[in-house]
Amino acid sequence: MKIFAHRGCSGDYPENTLAAFRAARELPIEGIELDVHLSRDGELMVIHDESVDRTTDGSGFVKDMMSEELRMLDAGIWKGEAFANERIPFLSEVLELFKDTTHVVNIELKSDIFPYEGMADRVLRLVDTFQMRDRVILSSFDHETIAYVAKIYPDVETAALTMEVLMDVPAYLKRLGVSSAHVFFPTAFRRMGHELKAANYPVRAYTVNEVAYADMLRKVGIDAIFTDYPERFL
Ligand code: G3P
Ligand code: MG
Repeated sequence: MKIFAHRGCSGDYPENTLAAFRAARELPIEGIELDVHLSRDGELMVIHDESVDRTTDGSGFVKDMMSEELRMLDAGIWKGEAFANERIPFLSEVLELFKDTTHVVNIELKSDIFPYEGMADRVLRLVDTFQMRDRVILSSFDHETIAYVAKIYPDVETAALTMEVLMDVPAYLKRLGVSSAHVFFPTAFRRMGHELKAANYPVRAYTVNEVAYADMLRKVGIDAIFTDYPERFL
């Protein structure tokens, strides 16, 4: 079972910062996960929430702020003094960090609340400048966007993110055209998890921070977990 550092090593470092991704790069794990939003001037910013309030010393929506303003915010201090002056990374900085490693980079498109027109194409253009198309997974809770990516960029690995226990998911994924499923981990133990594996879909489960659950997921045949504490699973 593969290990992905969720928002970087977000248990011990401020999530979605270069500090969290640098820590992940040092570990013998298969991948990292990050979240992207678009700034007002169309830059791909690595941050989880729609607003900067929870993880920075600023306030407001990412979509309403220029990247220059976003970059002035402190994205580390909320996690502790030791992380003061971490910035909200540009996606390009994270790809730069991993361009010479073997890690898979899972880019989650956070277009499920604000649609961020053109975001997926911008991500792919950037991924291509780093020649990393074969080492990224694009995922989203926004199935309209992820189906678009699967259709326009069929060689890119795509994943539909789900939260609930759902019926007939393999048939649904086939309709979307995506290549894998990223599921809330307890739902992997339900019929849905078994059906996905029987249909040969790669299934990755979020967010797993306890070894006991990881062991159970391995038994079900889950391919990978996203965890805030990757070193627990080495
Ligand atoms: O991509 C897996 C996981 O990150 C999805 O949920 O809210 O942590 O982005 P969230
Ligand atoms: Mg995410």
